[in-house]
Amino acid sequence: MDIFLDTADQQQVRRWMDYGVVDGVTTNPTIMRRNGVGDIERHSRELARLIDPRPLSVEVTTNDHDEMLREARVLAKLASNIVVKIPVINEQGLPSLAVIRQLSEERVRVNVTAIMSFGQVMLAAKAGATYVSIFAGRVADEGGDAAAVIRRSAAWLARWNTPARIIVGSVREPANVQDAAEAGAHIITIPPALLEKLIDHRYSRDTVRGFNEDARAALAESALRAST
Ligand code: E4P
Repeated sequence: MDIFLDTADQQQVRRWMDYGVVDGVTTNPTIMRRNGVGDIERHSRELARLIDPRPLSVEVTTNDHDEMLREARVLAKLASNIVVKIPVINEQGLPSLAVIRQLSEERVRVNVTAIMSFGQVMLAAKAGATYVSIFAGRVADEGGDAAAVIRRSAAWLARWNTPARIIVGSVREPANVQDAAEAGAHIITIPPALLEKLIDHRYSRDTVRGFNEDARAALAESALRAST
């Protein structure tokens, strides 16, 4: 299973890449804004260079299909490892399937985003998505069962040998990450602050503290024995 970092923060990307756990990066317009990014193209180019050859997902920002295609082609040309994020439907509920199909025919890799259901996964995958992004936290916000959506999608993709890979995003607690992994996510995209929680455990720290204290005490005891 791969882990992507859900951030536009280059410092955090560098740090978690150094730990050897980052297989790619995902962004969206909200993440860009939260990280103070004004010039999305310039920032995406820098991020793409930083993580090359790992994939970087960058999202289009329009409801209009022709404009989506235009933005997608511009983004895809910024760097060879850029994957274009296309929302599965637009604000009005119009499917982006023709856009996804067209881009995949042009060999632009598409991450179909804002997916909340197994049905959306099937259609996006059939249209040519490279990645299908299931928003686990938002599914759960509406009372849905995110693990069931992931499990059914993973089984269906495997059963029919469909190449689309599942990215589970919108994870908010360590338990969400563990549940998504168990349900068969191919990739989970995780904000740095949540990775921090995933590695930490109060009892691990207590355990290490106990071992270190005993090691120091044992050393002091043997020094005392040697001197008497
Ligand atoms: C994933 O690709 C999305 O960018 C992200 O995980 C959405 O998370 P949110 O629901 O916390 O905004």
